[in-house]
Amino acid sequence: MRIDIITVLPELLASPFEASILKRAVDKGLVEVHFHNLRKYSIGAYKQVDDYQFGGGAGMVLMIEPIDKCISALKEERSYDEVIYLTPDGKQFDQKMANSLSLSKNIILLCGHYKGVDQRVRDTFITKEISIGDYVLSGGELAAAVVSDALIRLLPGVLNDETSALTDTFQDDLLAPPVYTRPREYKGLTVPDILLSGNTPEIEKWREDQAHKRTQERRPDLFED
Ligand code: ADE
Repeated sequence: MRIDIITVLPELLASPFEASILKRAVDKGLVEVHFHNLRKYSIGAYKQVDDYQFGGGAGMVLMIEPIDKCISALKEERSYDEVIYLTPDGKQFDQKMANSLSLSKNIILLCGHYKGVDQRVRDTFITKEISIGDYVLSGGELAAAVVSDALIRLLPGVLNDETSALTDTFQDDLLAPPVYTRPREYKGLTVPDILLSGNTPEIEKWREDQAHKRTQERRPDLFED
């Protein structure tokens, strides 16, 4: 998979890809992540990428021309499954979306800033609009990092234990059951006996029951559809 991220603040994006699982995925060649500084496609002597909005009102808007130039340059090199705009008014990101997007070969993530991008960018170039939640970030960069992380960890070979993404919370519309590790007892706090029993079918059943119980208590909405 290849992810091209278009941003005015590439420095905000680098570190998530330089540590842990994402770094390993990049190092193993399982994913390529490229940052494109929109300023490189800026117009005029002032390296302009944004301007005041027509009709008045506070806040700058990212202009269509630099974005067009950047996206067109990328599309000349390869075709893209999706050109995604990160925006709080997009469709809310969830595990199903992550699963389906993780099957893409090439995607572009466009990070908004200030008041967002000229509507004509959205109308013309964007194939999907994603929000990571009902709150407003100062730009799309952290949202792009969140989406990238969720996709990359699903790529075959990224997680050591291939089954572990399958047992993630949300993968069956269920929250994951509780987990424990050593020691068996810490300051009087113990581990459920069943997990120490060695009885695999019973342990599986306990985990399923716990997942249902937890989902019922914390996220009954997940049972609704
Ligand atoms: N940009 C600003 N806020 C955002 C959000 N909640 N999701 C995606 N992109 C954003």
